[in-house]
Amino acid sequence: MPVQETNHISYQRSFYIEGGNFNYAGIVSTSIKSILKQMDFPSNVVRKCSIVCYESEINVVSYARKGVVNLTINSNTIQIEVIDEGPGIPNIDLAMQEGYSTATQKIREMGFGAGMGLHNIESYSDAFIISSELGKGTRLLMTINIKQ
Ligand SMILES: Nc1ncnc2c1ncn2[C@@H]1O[C@H](COP(=O)(O)OP(=O)(O)OP(=O)(O)O)[C@@H](O)[C@H]1O
Ligand SMILES: [Mg+2]
Repeated sequence: MPVQETNHISYQRSFYIEGGNFNYAGIVSTSIKSILKQMDFPSNVVRKCSIVCYESEINVVSYARKGVVNLTINSNTIQIEVIDEGPGIPNIDLAMQEGYSTATQKIREMGFGAGMGLHNIESYSDAFIISSELGKGTRLLMTINIKQ
C-alpha cells in the first residue's frame, strides 16, 4: 500500500527566556544545539539553527521582558519560533537593516549591539517571518530545511 508522505511533527519542545538577564543569555540556543547534535542532524543544519536561535534569544534578553522559544522538528524542516512580551519593533524594515541598533550602553558592554542580529537571522534561515505589535511584543519564525 502506498504511504502518503506528510510533514509529520516528530519533536516539539519549548524553552523560556528571561528578559534583561544576561547571566543566562545563550542557554536556550546552547540546549537546542546539543539536542540537534544528539539527533545527528548535519553540522551545517545545526549551525544555522544555533545562529538564528542565539541571535533571537539575545534580542529577547536585550529588549523584551520575557520570551518563549518553540522548537519543532518535522520530517523536512526544523522550525524555531521565538515569541516575546516586550515593546515590539516600531519599524521592522529599519530594524532589519545591517548596522541599525538601539542597544543601550549596557548591552554594548556585553558585546552586543552591532545591528547585525536580525539580518543574520534572515540570511541563515531558509524561510523567515517577523511580526511585531507595539507595546505587546515580537514574533519570529525561522525555518531551516533539513535537506540543504
Ligand atoms: N525582540 C525585540 N524586541 C524589541 N526590539 C527588538 C527586538 N529584536 C530587535 N529589536 C530592535 O531591532 C534592532 C536591531 O536588532 P538586531 O538584532 O539586528 O541588532 P542588535 O541587537 O541591535 O545588535 P546585534 O544583534 O548585532 O548584537 C535592535 O537594536 C532593537 O531596536
Ligand atoms: Mg541582536
